[in-house]
Amino acid sequence: MKELIVKLLSKEVKLDKKELWNLVEVPPSPELGDYAFPCFVLTKKLKKNPNKIAEELTKKIKLTKEISQVKASGPYLNFFINKKILAENLIKKILTSGEKYGKRKENEKVVIEFLSPNTNKPLHLGHLRNMLVGESIARILEFSGNNIKRVNLYNDRGIHIVKSMLAYQKYGKNKTPEKTKEKSDKFVGNFYVLFNEKAKTNKKLEEEAREMLRKWESGDKNVRELWRKMNSWAIKGIENTYKILGVKFDKHYYESKIYKKGKEIIEEGLKKGLFKKRDDNAVIINLGKELGEKVLLRSDGTSVYITQDLYLAKLRYQEYKFDDMIYVVANEQDYHFKVLFKILKLLKYPFAESLHHLSYGMVFLPEGKMKSREGKVVDADDLIEEMLKLAEKELKKRYKLKKQELKKRSLAIALSAIKYFFLKIESKKGIIFNPDKAIDFEGNTGPYLQYSYARASSILRKAEKFNKTKKLQIKVVDLKEQEIELVKKLAEFPEIIKKARQQLNPGIIANYSFQLAQIFNEFYHNCQVLGSIEGNFRLALVEAFRIVMKKSLELLGIEVLEEM
Ligand code: ARG
Repeated sequence: MKELIVKLLSKEVKLDKKELWNLVEVPPSPELGDYAFPCFVLTKKLKKNPNKIAEELTKKIKLTKEISQVKASGPYLNFFINKKILAENLIKKILTSGEKYGKRKENEKVVIEFLSPNTNKPLHLGHLRNMLVGESIARILEFSGNNIKRVNLYNDRGIHIVKSMLAYQKYGKNKTPEKTKEKSDKFVGNFYVLFNEKAKTNKKLEEEAREMLRKWESGDKNVRELWRKMNSWAIKGIENTYKILGVKFDKHYYESKIYKKGKEIIEEGLKKGLFKKRDDNAVIINLGKELGEKVLLRSDGTSVYITQDLYLAKLRYQEYKFDDMIYVVANEQDYHFKVLFKILKLLKYPFAESLHHLSYGMVFLPEGKMKSREGKVVDADDLIEEMLKLAEKELKKRYKLKKQELKKRSLAIALSAIKYFFLKIESKKGIIFNPDKAIDFEGNTGPYLQYSYARASSILRKAEKFNKTKKLQIKVVDLKEQEIELVKKLAEFPEIIKKARQQLNPGIIANYSFQLAQIFNEFYHNCQVLGSIEGNFRLALVEAFRIVMKKSLELLGIEVLEEM
């Protein structure tokens, strides 16, 4: 409809369609029409008073069957849409496009890196947020018509990794996760915690860890053996967690396999005179006032964190020839990515302009910040476990379900509670995750949205029994206010997708789905669907709602339930 208005306007007003699109707005109240065009933008050009311009335009604009009226109201030109035609066209479009409604065609290749854990401990709440944001953005980009590669980086070497190895060697007594029946990443993480505890009183431990790292770098057989064993435990546990969340990767990178190649880029930069050797032999770059001096290689020749990233970016470009690459990484690393991108630009790599850091804020629990070194971390697994219990409790309050069905539903509900709570908040902000709020079936939550979807499904199931045929009819008899609201909201969906894509912000879709669910509930309470004369059109409307809600939730990574 907005397109149509822009088209009509473009015939009478000398502005291009893009400009017009940005100018046409939704007026504050429905008496003022469905769309409005502010005529004061033309005052300079036409050297006329805007009220006059509006007046004159009402006479020039040719009405169509879709636009039933134009009216001047002060400097605004207000358009009134024929709601019946809007409703019929839109519902027809949604029902025939099905899950393609709102899909875009951008056709770019985008690499998105997310998760990227260290392999010395289980995933924590920050990783949870990371994955949910990463996966949702990947889906939004896919729905925008792009080819997406999801990649993960295992930071599997370095001082933090040998710390858990050393503690295991010293105090582990050959225990294994199989023997202790612990989740294998938790098992590894416990030794990391133990190391930090012991290191408080035993000052030699830090030095021993550095010695172990040197041995690892020189390929010491025993150290490498231990490393392989503990890393495979850590990774096995980590994979277990992200699979529960429905996350899959196209490729995994391992720091241990690439960190040496980073050193070649350092050589390249030295030759080009971009990097310098300091008196102590460390390689540095001076990035001026804002970013300062940055060490790229330590004085003993060992790599630092950024060394791997220099090479990794290059490697991925060789592999994928991406148009864009997005790194989903916590805001603690804002500086790191500024430096990384700056250096790649200075090295004149062709892809350096195509890199983006999607930064997100910390996750807190009502009790306070998570701390990894003291072992007071709340693991992602623990949070999922907690939410599962809450979901089960809620379900038991409401229904009598068979064990297996209870399991299936509580998993879907628990995950939707977590995902929605994390995604509705803008990535940059910190989050205080509140389990009870997140699960509330009646709040601004994932389960509430699932519930509205399940209700729509149930209406359609009943109708099927009722009518036998499921032929949905799109002819409108008469429209009630709540139907109009629902139609309008459904019509917004393609714009919402576009906005979420441009801003790389799943929160836009989360907010939209919540509004959509609320409007659907209003509709449902005010408009009789089954057994009314308007019933056939209303069923079609319910089906259209179902399609859009399902897609919205899917883009947030949330699974729908046909019954709840
Ligand atoms: N493993 C790192 C950490 O836990 C994050 C890695 C982010 N990705 C990257 N390419 N640097 O802090």
